[in-house]
Amino acid sequence: MANVVVVGMQWGDEAKGKVVDYLAQDADYVVRYNGGNNAGHTVVIGNEIYKFHTVPVGVLNEGVTAVVTDGVVFDPSVFVAELKALRERGIPADRIRISRNVHIIMPWHRLIDNLEENSKGDKKIGTTGRGIGPAYADKMSRTGIRMAEFINPDRFKLRLSECIKRVNALITKVYGSDPLDEEAVYTEYSAYAREIAPFVCDTSTLLYEASSECANIVFEGAHGSLLDIDHGTYPFATSSHCVAGGACIGTGIGPTMIDRVIGVAKAYTTRVGAGPFPTELRDEIGDRIREQGNEYGTTTGRPRRCGWFDSVAVRFTARVNGVSAIAVTLLDVLTGFDTLKICTHYLIDGKEVRDFPTDVEELQKAVPVYEELPGWSENISDARTFGDLPHNARNYVNRIAELVEAPICMLGVGRRRDQSIILDAEMLQM
Ligand code: GDP
Ligand code: IMO
Ligand code: MG
Repeated sequence: MANVVVVGMQWGDEAKGKVVDYLAQDADYVVRYNGGNNAGHTVVIGNEIYKFHTVPVGVLNEGVTAVVTDGVVFDPSVFVAELKALRERGIPADRIRISRNVHIIMPWHRLIDNLEENSKGDKKIGTTGRGIGPAYADKMSRTGIRMAEFINPDRFKLRLSECIKRVNALITKVYGSDPLDEEAVYTEYSAYAREIAPFVCDTSTLLYEASSECANIVFEGAHGSLLDIDHGTYPFATSSHCVAGGACIGTGIGPTMIDRVIGVAKAYTTRVGAGPFPTELRDEIGDRIREQGNEYGTTTGRPRRCGWFDSVAVRFTARVNGVSAIAVTLLDVLTGFDTLKICTHYLIDGKEVRDFPTDVEELQKAVPVYEELPGWSENISDARTFGDLPHNARNYVNRIAELVEAPICMLGVGRRRDQSIILDAEMLQM
């Protein structure tokens, strides 16, 4: 029996979906605890590709209950569409549970997200435009609508009426945009509420009881630690607790119930949206990584910014997450480069810096200092043991482990579920 958190160690899209899917094969519960449909998690089984935004990836496994807990902001329209798509592919959705306490992403959240971004000029964050920040802002201001209210028609009508007066004033007077129609929103969203109501329960108690009965629980972190609202590169961050501690905050279970934290890091680095990225490659090497890694956003389709592996950043996120071990993913993407580079430290104002600065102004000035390692040309996508890898690939992986000061438990050598190398099976044991 184990409760395992899977968490992104860079700026998102580290292949958490694939790692969670691997663990989910022996899990009873897979739990989303932060963020919303700004997440895009991909699972590839055989020739089938599945992309998840709101539903936990565990839903693909028979016998797994997929749980969306309190810390998530929840877009009913996206959930209903995701549900329909799953059913069309023959995936039963009756094992999905959603917390009574999730905050609902309403149409004005999406609208304000986009209006706010457009008003920022060259200071844009490059959000996903899904209304995430405004929904969390309402939660913190204690003006949001929670699921328990949403699925009760009378309470929803009242709360909608309260909210829409306030947001329409904001939309029209501050942004000069058109107001929302209360009746139209009520009609559309009540239909979603009716469809969603059967999935709603008290997920904190559900998971506590499951844990007491020795269930295996995987906590599916969204985004990446460097996008965390507190520990990330603020304001170029998302609005939720992306670090492993977020699993407790977002779920309502105590820290002593977590057994292990598996951090997920790409063998290089990517970032979507604006913000500092010291090892970014704005050249043909970056373009080549993007093409070899198919680095286009799962949620928005935007090209991802690509760069070398940054051990300063990942050593930092190994610390703030207290990782037990790391899964290094997309190693196959680096095949064919004569030389690979790993950033060992930064120079900021001429001074050597080994601790990741989260102040963006300082990080913006960071000049990466690299160590060069020889690459490999052999196709590694069929490698299934560490010994199957070419010497230079093993050397590269070992150097990452040394620099980030954490053991590596798994390697990704391709998109498919089976394209993994397990280095420490015990660490991945549920
Ligand atoms: P997540 O948000 O962390 O779940 O990651 P995404 O699904 O957004 O992005 C990861 C992408 O890499 C997806 O397209 C995966 O199918 C793909 N992927 C995952 N692991 C590997 C791997 O080891 N090698 C390659 N080439 N692709 C992978
Ligand atoms: P997964 O779970 C990559 C980024 C956005 C933007 C910033 C704020 O798939 O790894 P938001 O819409 O959250 O207010 O945008 O955060 N971002 C992600 N980047 N992967 C994600 O999720 C992300 N979720 C948010 O690109 O820069
Ligand atoms: Mg993603």
